[in-house]
Amino acid sequence: MTDNGQNYVTLNNGAKIPQFGLGVYMINGDNATEEAVSEALKLGYWHIDTAHAYQNERGVGRAVKKNGINRHNIWITSKLWPSDYGEDKTPKAIDKMLNRLDTDYIDLLLLHQQFGDYIGAWKAMEKAVKEGKVRSIGISNFSGKRLDNLLANAEVKPAVMQVELHPYYQEKELRQRMAQYDTKFEAWYPIGHGDPKLINEPVFTKLAKKYGKTNVQIILRWHIQKGFIVFPKSTNPEHLKQNIDVFDFKLTPDEMQAIDALDKHQRYFTMSLEAQKSAFSSFKPAD
Ligand SMILES: NC(=O)c1ccc[n+]([C@@H]2O[C@H](COP(=O)([O-])OP(=O)(O)OC[C@H]3O[C@@H](n4cnc5c(N)ncnc54)[C@H](OP(=O)(O)O)[C@@H]3O)[C@@H](O)[C@H]2O)c1
Repeated sequence: MTDNGQNYVTLNNGAKIPQFGLGVYMINGDNATEEAVSEALKLGYWHIDTAHAYQNERGVGRAVKKNGINRHNIWITSKLWPSDYGEDKTPKAIDKMLNRLDTDYIDLLLLHQQFGDYIGAWKAMEKAVKEGKVRSIGISNFSGKRLDNLLANAEVKPAVMQVELHPYYQEKELRQRMAQYDTKFEAWYPIGHGDPKLINEPVFTKLAKKYGKTNVQIILRWHIQKGFIVFPKSTNPEHLKQNIDVFDFKLTPDEMQAIDALDKHQRYFTMSLEAQKSAFSSFKPAD
């Protein structure tokens, strides 16, 4: 992969993922997504995080195609929804995803949620890696018994685990638990879904002043130095520019510790497992 001045993280299968990217959750529709991704690609974002459930993979595919950057320099992650889980269903779902993204391969494919026939889906994903349709596979939002079950049945251990992760919710135990597989962590809601309370924490304001950066840039720099893979969402051109401009300064160990100390085990996403099971099982994203 060509070096564009950013950091890369080496996954447990040797693949190198750009540590910083753009998340496109809640960018509404393919046109708005194409626009945001095109803008981001111009700014040097070479990693896009989408999902079937976001219903904007075609917009991602169109932006990547038209931008003229070598496909091999761009990392595309997408996620399978539970309605596509199963040894029979998943291979067809992967082919449809390739079609929507208009690409020959997906860099990283994740199980989006821990419900349904996730073991059957994982087996099909392992097969898709052998077939070259997918390069790396991982999981999102798994916990407890379902995580144990997945790991016990997985021939290929997850390359990444994508979970809610930010200074208020740092998932220390889960990270320790996954260290034996060298599974890397991807942070969703990295800036607390834009929560002003998190963004305006005094420690960020103080460090922003010291480094001539914004509070959000301090939070993103903390993620980078923790080794997390991070892809804040934005459709605002100023935010897009600002968010990627975090590679020209370094927080000291004491400053990192001061941010570590903000951990309150406080999630923003508080839906119970039962409610998730019911809501996620009844939703079926369009093809
Ligand atoms: N696997 C999962 O279940 C899951 C769940 C949620 C998210 N994700 C992934 O994680 C990505 C990021 O999560 P997210 O988008 O929900 O939350 P986020 O990145 O923490 O926050 C996005 C919010 O922050 C605002 N923002 C962005 N840059 C800013 C800046 N510099 N200053 C002030 N506000 C700023 C954005 O508004 P503007 O657009 O106006 O900038 C938006 O409202 C998603 O896009 C998706 O790819 C995955």
